[in-house]
Amino acid sequence: MRRSLIAANWKMHKKIDEGLSFITGLKEKYPRTHPVEVVICAPFTMLFALAEKALGSGISIGAQNLYWEKKGAYTGETSGQMIVDAGCEYVIIGHSERRQYFHETNVEVNKKIKAAHAERLNVIFCIGESLTEREAGQTFTVVQKQLIEGLEGISEDALESITLAYEPIWAIGTGVTATPEQAGEVHTFIRKLIREQFSDPAAEKMRILYGGSVKPGNVDQLMALDDIDGGLVGGASLELSSFLQLINFKSS
Ligand code: PGA
Repeated sequence: MRRSLIAANWKMHKKIDEGLSFITGLKEKYPRTHPVEVVICAPFTMLFALAEKALGSGISIGAQNLYWEKKGAYTGETSGQMIVDAGCEYVIIGHSERRQYFHETNVEVNKKIKAAHAERLNVIFCIGESLTEREAGQTFTVVQKQLIEGLEGISEDALESITLAYEPIWAIGTGVTATPEQAGEVHTFIRKLIREQFSDPAAEKMRILYGGSVKPGNVDQLMALDDIDGGLVGGASLELSSFLQLINFKSS
């Protein structure tokens, strides 16, 4: 059985005191026995403070990016080692905003995944097509290329620390959510690819999150699908009240 995961992606939002009061409130409402795993991926500036606050609560803290070198003259970059040192257990890699605005390629995404694995960081590896690609009927080929190139040289053992997130770019921050049918067919396709590239057990174990305008009003419907194992949530993760509704989705 795959344990569901709801991950907050705060992107470039919140100051340290806002992050801390969110974690304080979340801890009060998140019993350690909660069936859904929870990860808060926050800006770098507050990771250390949040990890300290979350200690012992079962809530994990994650970064939103890393650089693949361990250390050196790379002004402005943060290594996996540093992210672990700050108390994080997770890192998001390959988010579409990084691919789009910072021109990250599949090759770079692959280096980052390997660097994260070397530090024993759990990875939330994002893939997904743009609206133009969807309309041109390229959804499956784009997702397949991102997945295969991103996981190039990754062993089946290393795969255990990876959670995939299918995030159609046209659904991110737009209020437009993929219908359960649209999301479901891509999730099923992704699981099939993992089966072909690795094995049946690897495909069965792999968690595949959906991301793109997940909110309290659609979370139950999306999470009810067999191949959807949780969500990566931007906008609706910023307010504690809506985030609590998400982690308590109905089938959980
Ligand atoms: P959204 O963002 O929930 O605001 O659409 C999701 C994401 O970018 O991970």
